[in-house]
Amino acid sequence: MSASETDRSLSPDVSVSGGLPVFPRGFFFGAATASYQIEGGAGEDGRGPSIWDTYCRRPGRITGGASGDVACDHYHRWPEDIALMKDLGLDTYRFSIAWPRIQPTGTGPANTPGLDFYDRLVDALLDAGITPAATLYHWDLPQALEDTGGWRVRSTVDAFTDYTRIVAERLGDRVGRWFTLNEPFCTAFVGHAIGRHAPGTREGTPALAAAHHLLLAHGHAARILKDTTRGDVGIALNPDRLLPATHDPADLAACARAETLHNTIWLDPLLAHRYPTTETDTWGPLIQDPTWRHDGDLDIITTPLDFLGINYYRPITIAHTPHQDPDPTTRTATDIRATETWQDGVRHTAMDWPVVPSSLTDLLTDLKHRYPTLPPIVITENGSAEHGDTPGPDGRIHDTDRITYLHTHLTALTHAINNGIDIRGYYAWSLMDNFEWAHGYTKRFGLIHIDYTTQTRTPKDSYHWYHHLITHHHNTHTP
Ligand code: FCB
Repeated sequence: MSASETDRSLSPDVSVSGGLPVFPRGFFFGAATASYQIEGGAGEDGRGPSIWDTYCRRPGRITGGASGDVACDHYHRWPEDIALMKDLGLDTYRFSIAWPRIQPTGTGPANTPGLDFYDRLVDALLDAGITPAATLYHWDLPQALEDTGGWRVRSTVDAFTDYTRIVAERLGDRVGRWFTLNEPFCTAFVGHAIGRHAPGTREGTPALAAAHHLLLAHGHAARILKDTTRGDVGIALNPDRLLPATHDPADLAACARAETLHNTIWLDPLLAHRYPTTETDTWGPLIQDPTWRHDGDLDIITTPLDFLGINYYRPITIAHTPHQDPDPTTRTATDIRATETWQDGVRHTAMDWPVVPSSLTDLLTDLKHRYPTLPPIVITENGSAEHGDTPGPDGRIHDTDRITYLHTHLTALTHAINNGIDIRGYYAWSLMDNFEWAHGYTKRFGLIHIDYTTQTRTPKDSYHWYHHLITHHHNTHTP
């Protein structure tokens, strides 16, 4: 870690051909989405309510009072969307399956029309020459499971295991890559401690129990998928590159606690069969008696991964601060005497996130150093929301900032590959503008612009740039 990292991603040592970064033969390019962010069709074909349906109805939680009820109407427009993916030249498409479409109340028999939707999607992707890559859980927990304790309780692990079996049985012969969970950090801590995502609560030990149950659910699902399907199996995490605000020992200690919260609580059990040794420093009384952990759980969580998915957007700067709540009985799990801010002196995106591509290289290099058994890496999300992302007088969207973001981050990835890290592929976030959680529709991450009034899809300049990159890659490796 260093106090400030500079952007060296365009330094002369970069492997560049025709101005584009060069990737090894076999490297794949994709784009990603998530069910609640794009599908709409909220009440159709027997889909049950999810925690996001509930959360969006709570006043003041989502910018503009928005919800995913209609979103990009992908539930009806998927043939058009797959045609756009094909023109883009995608090797693979990462989508998520809405659990409430498969089991409307989270348990019980499969809802056939819900399964049929994904069945058709997978077949159409294969017809278009695109490898389907499915995430089982991208945050839309059936509300009925939340009502019985959600991720705080072990019975939700059993429910997820059952759901996984249903999906594996129906799609397991055709999905090429599986992601059990997306960003369990966000589910556990943004959802149950910061309270900015569904279910929107501010809790202490229950949030830590949720973290464990998510890992355990992943482990059970990974075993089922590996045993019964043809696809490779992984998880999409968002390990963060954390930078101490200063070299003051208090800031360094805060950064170490933030490492536990953001990174080692996930990576240590998954990759090293242990709980982080720093957890007592980080949570003190909140983790004194972790009754939610049972003997044998670590063996399940450590089920070997075919790949580790990494979502990367920006580094976070960490400084020491006193506890917000001095009382440990009411303190939340993210109140660890650390504040999070954004690095100055670099460009910031429309999310206000600092653009620091070299942090991606450093994150991956550091992970390899810390976990010698690191599985092959797939970048499962990377991209930027930009201002002024609307069609100009010529009808086009000249999103040059997004192109620069993608170009510099893909270049940073080649640095990591040159450092000896096994990186297999890259999914841009996102295929299209969509419902950006608490920000509603105000943040646009898409390669494709969505007019939410007419549902018109317009490829942005970044879409054409990405097409050029993918074509160039395949031409480079054609014998
Ligand atoms: C990630 C989420 C994804 C999207 C991007 C911008 O944390 O996985 O759904 O919202 O951020």
